[in-house]
Amino acid sequence: MQTDWIDDLILAMPEGCRISTAPDLIDRESRDETEDLRYEPEVVVEPANTFEVAALLKWANLHKAPVTASGARTGLSGGALAVEGGIALSMRRMNSILEIDRDNHQVRVQPGVIVQTLQEEVAQVGLFYAVDPASRGTCTIGGNIAENSGGPRAVKYGVTKDWVLNLEVVLADGSVIKTGANTLKNSTGYNLTQLLVGSEGTLGIVTEATLKLMPLPTHQALMLVPFNSARDACQAVAAIFQAGVQPSALEFMERAAIELAQTFTEDYSLKLDASTEAHLLIEVDAFRAEDIMPQVEAILPVLESLGAGEPLFADDEASKDRLWFLRRRVGEAVKASSIYKEEDTVVPRALLPDLLDKVKAIGAQFGFESVCYGHAGDGNLHVNILRGDLSEDAWTNELPVAIRSLFEAVVVMGGTLSGEHGIGYVQRSYMDVVFSERHLQLMRDVKTAFDPNGILNPGKIIPDE
Ligand code: LAC
Ligand code: ZN
Repeated sequence: MQTDWIDDLILAMPEGCRISTAPDLIDRESRDETEDLRYEPEVVVEPANTFEVAALLKWANLHKAPVTASGARTGLSGGALAVEGGIALSMRRMNSILEIDRDNHQVRVQPGVIVQTLQEEVAQVGLFYAVDPASRGTCTIGGNIAENSGGPRAVKYGVTKDWVLNLEVVLADGSVIKTGANTLKNSTGYNLTQLLVGSEGTLGIVTEATLKLMPLPTHQALMLVPFNSARDACQAVAAIFQAGVQPSALEFMERAAIELAQTFTEDYSLKLDASTEAHLLIEVDAFRAEDIMPQVEAILPVLESLGAGEPLFADDEASKDRLWFLRRRVGEAVKASSIYKEEDTVVPRALLPDLLDKVKAIGAQFGFESVCYGHAGDGNLHVNILRGDLSEDAWTNELPVAIRSLFEAVVVMGGTLSGEHGIGYVQRSYMDVVFSERHLQLMRDVKTAFDPNGILNPGKIIPDE
């Protein structure tokens, strides 16, 4: 596009709307947390309200200008990268908690609200918003809705989609709709709320969300459990549920994941036994103190039967925070250690040991090293493939073959490509592994119905025909 279109855009927008081509802003908006990818938008728009978003989309639709929305840019599949240039639409400034409805256990928020801020605000009145991605201190509700984010507590409380009741959405032509109702039940027409959740800014721009809340669980126990065999650790995961326990988090970390997090955080207080290959981080929660121990007592024999070492119990808030801090830093730690690619594989949880075996077997076959960790209770393994000494040819040509064969195995297990990071830019060439051409065409048709000119986050999710 010619750059004079930006002058035209500025003229068309409501007075006072923040529009910029400042190099530092363009630079900030050119990346997210996905690998080392970088795509520059030509202009950055930071709207303050729904009206400005609507005006922007109306103009962009008329001029067929790409619009790529973003939150805090913590995404891991390139969903917020403006791969075709055009307009970066940053939702950060729309960051108000509009209303906490204590009578109905709901909250109405703008998309730029930081997840942890929301959690802390509602906790003040004894309420709980459970979705807590590792990046909860920076990531936004809007980004979480776009990617259908999960995080450690999804295993008990579900992912973002389970908490969204109703959305205000600006459509590609600038019109504004509410997708649902502020009710827990809704059998009224197609469920556009759930279609919008996880659509990565390709169908519309969320400008407001009504989210469900619940009473805040007040008691937790947290234990870090070492295993000499990573496979046995994975084996213990389904066994814990089979023993009748529903943990509020059940995380898996290979030894290297913890070691990288220790280096990254410079916190070596946790001593690892030389023979430890992996850990499970297990949390149970409850509303009453007396409901904690029975859950722990049900878990311990399962761990013992699978050869676990002595669990480390975090017995005060500071030690709990330290363990969670370490866990939440693993992603950044891996990124800081090497060029890497991350796969967000997910399988039915009892097949987690087979998934881990497959990852390692494919790694051995193709000569790559991986660090695995993730939400084991969800069968969701983040497979981080390190570049290490791989040649350019191996990295760019052979690795996609390896990843494809991993995904094929995942699909055979009844799993899929992404549990919580989305397809975005980097996984879309693998979509045919899980969907038939007919199925992909149906997705393209849905996209066209919402966005006939293809302005919303082009180049994402669905592979070209
Ligand atoms: C995590 C992010 C990377 O689980 O999803 O740490
Ligand atoms: Zn995760």
